[in-house]
Amino acid sequence: MGFRSKFEDAEKALTFNDVLLLPGWTTVEPDQADVKTRVSRNIELNIPLVASPMDTVTEAEMAIALAREGAIGVLHRNCSAKEEVAMARSVKRAEALIIRDVITVNPDNTVDELLRLMEEHNIKGFPVVENEDRLVGIVTWRDVRLADSSLKVKDVMTESVVTGSDETSLEEAMKILHEHRIEKLPIIDENRRVKGLITMKDITLKGTYQDAVRDEEGRLICAAAISPFDLPRAKALDRYVDILVLDVSHFHNSNCFDAAKEILREVEADVIVGNIGTYEAAEDVITKLDGVAGLRVGIGSGSICSTSVVTRAGAPTLYATSRVADAVKKYGADIPIIADGGIRNPGDIAVAMAVGASCAMMGNVFAGCRESPGRLVAMEGRYYKEYYGMGSERARKKRYAQDRYSQPSKSISEGVEGWVPYRGPVKDILGEFTGGLKAAMGYVGARTIPEMWEKARLALITERGAQEAAPHDIMRPGPSRRL
Ligand code: XMP
Repeated sequence: MGFRSKFEDAEKALTFNDVLLLPGWTTVEPDQADVKTRVSRNIELNIPLVASPMDTVTEAEMAIALAREGAIGVLHRNCSAKEEVAMARSVKRAEALIIRDVITVNPDNTVDELLRLMEEHNIKGFPVVENEDRLVGIVTWRDVRLADSSLKVKDVMTESVVTGSDETSLEEAMKILHEHRIEKLPIIDENRRVKGLITMKDITLKGTYQDAVRDEEGRLICAAAISPFDLPRAKALDRYVDILVLDVSHFHNSNCFDAAKEILREVEADVIVGNIGTYEAAEDVITKLDGVAGLRVGIGSGSICSTSVVTRAGAPTLYATSRVADAVKKYGADIPIIADGGIRNPGDIAVAMAVGASCAMMGNVFAGCRESPGRLVAMEGRYYKEYYGMGSERARKKRYAQDRYSQPSKSISEGVEGWVPYRGPVKDILGEFTGGLKAAMGYVGARTIPEMWEKARLALITERGAQEAAPHDIMRPGPSRRL
């Protein structure tokens, strides 16, 4: 076969702006469309959106805000294992029917130490224990706010504690909390050992966030990124998270596969692997790795990616999703696909679903939200938040990013740094994206995401067609804005 045939046989790697959804016969009004989905084999979402594991996108605040609305954020790993575990713990502690990971104090702790713990964990009360976790009292903010800081916990705590047991139902707990006008109900066993904590705050929050995604204990669902080569971190996080995302720029790599095998054997969480971009990569994951629960798909399309500029390697997200979805279908594998990179509009998500995605991952859009960790900066009268690629010089300087885009063998950056417009609370963005996606489903005539896979038809458009498909020939106020 001559080299020339490489042109003839070249893949058509289409991207979002190359296609439109063809409107179909519909009986579905947008508000009847159901956007429930799965991000991994065992984890359902009420909104099909995922925030990227990047240190300008997802830390605990973003992960909590998204899970409360029914979406999910993947905690980044550009930090020490201890810091990442702390983020996961705060997501899991944000809400629960029963807190199992109870933070307790001893009678001999000083008030000063107590105040520090309160600040560190953002908690206003602790069970007091001694002698192997046996409950001897409870201490809350009210007991210490005016107390001399050198006093001990035993001087200010309340000794007679109202308690419940593992048999106490949620309804009973609510009754007890109300009757005694208390905020916290420690759950103890027959030896008075603390086994959990029910709080008024958590019960109230459950009513507040009705669409939240929760585990069976009422805690928010949590996902965290790891390097496939960091088994100790995987194990440390596995105690807290529901999903581990093996986070490398090119997962279709023999070392990654070997390392992933070990992680898959050792952890209980659902394991999502990526990124991959081809049919063959998906086929190898399906046939060579046991127990993968999700696929993160797309290489080089991210707004901060310079991978394809630097290396000319890449698999645009839309193309990659279609190829991976074909492999998943061919093997009858039950593995949801996350389309990742280059997604700017709800319509991009709709076309990704047309070719088999279950949900979409976004970095750029979420980086602009209030809950992202990036710095807010004002430039020329407008607000922006900083956003940089995990393969950028900036991220690479933090040594923990090394194995994603900058193994010692890589001496060049594959990401850039910049700013994105400030977009306000993430809840508003979720509303905007869900509304747009439901409207697209209405055009297609799809009531659910699996119906999108079946019914949505695509049309290829030209560059001039893409211009026509966006607003044109009109003066618009303010700086030009991508729609
Ligand atoms: P968007 O378009 O939402 O894409 O900004 C986010 C996705 O981009 C990937 N990512 C990178 N890709 N170099 C890359 O080639 C990088 O430095 C980089 N950082 C993130 C990642 O998949 C993310 O979800």
